[in-house]
This record gives sequence, structure tokens and C-alpha cells, in this order.
Amino acid sequence: MQRGSGLSAEQERHLVQVARDARLRAHAPYSHFAVGAALMDEHGRVHAGANIENAAYPQGLCAEAAALAHLVVAGGTRIAAAVVVGDGAQPVTPCGGCRQKLREFAGEALPVVVADLREVRLRTTLGELLPHSFGPDHLGRGLKP
Ligand code: THU
Repeated sequence: MQRGSGLSAEQERHLVQVARDARLRAHAPYSHFAVGAALMDEHGRVHAGANIENAAYPQGLCAEAAALAHLVVAGGTRIAAAVVVGDGAQPVTPCGGCRQKLREFAGEALPVVVADLREVRLRTTLGELLPHSFGPDHLGRGLKP
């Protein structure tokens, strides 16, 4: 079943589960705010990440960035779908810095799904989260073929 985003219900369920599992591995002893992420690459492979905080606070890493590192090292060059999972009153949408990090490997059509421990809270796109974005194309670099 397509959902407008190009993600099937089954793909979305799988990505949400991967992100929820990754969230359980978060290292968040300072904020106690665990986040998990799952990124699907251009081959349909799924890469997980969790936030990794640090005693030197600014050195902390967001879940999306951790997942992106896995995607790149696995040979992925594009993000086809992104899921973020957090637990809170408001949907845990990607932070501004992570929106830009996603933009390096995806265009505005990128489906971004935000879920909590029970349900999907938001289905959106990178274009909605980061309108009029600056990306590799501004530097004459397309996404890698
Ligand atoms: N966090 C993420 O991992 N991703 C986001 O997009 C929002 C924030 C993490 C960073 C920090 O470890 C904790 O959530 C609280 O800000």
C-alpha cells in the first residue's frame, strides 16, 4: 500500500521498529531523552542510529547523524526515507542541524516519519521541514549517481 510518500505501510512499520530498537541503545545519561532513527538508502537497506551524548555536552551526536554514518559507511549515497522515534508530548522532529545533514543525501521529496513508542505522529517531507534549503546542488554538485 502506498501512502503518498512512496513508502509502503510495511516499509514504514519496519523502519519505525528499527528506530524504536535503536532508541533503546541510546547513550543519553545527561538529557535522559533517548532518540532512535532509521534511514533507508537507495538500495532499500535500513541503517539505524541512536543519540550518543558526551560529558563534553556539545560533542553529543543526534540519532539521525549516527544513522547517517552507518548509511555512508555501508556504501549508501542517498536517503530514500527517514524515521525518527522519540517519546514526548510533542512529535520528536529532526533538529535543524539534522535536517541539513539529511539534505546532503536527499531532496525535498524525502519522506520523514516521526513516531513515538505507540504510533506514528507525523508524516512529512524534508521540503516541509527545511524549505528553500541550501544543498549540494548550490555548489554544482548533484547527488552521486
Ligand atoms: N536529539 C536527537 O538525537 N535527534 C534530534 O533530532 C533531536 C534531538 C537528541 C540530542 C540529545 O542527545 C537529546 O536528543 C536531547 O536534545
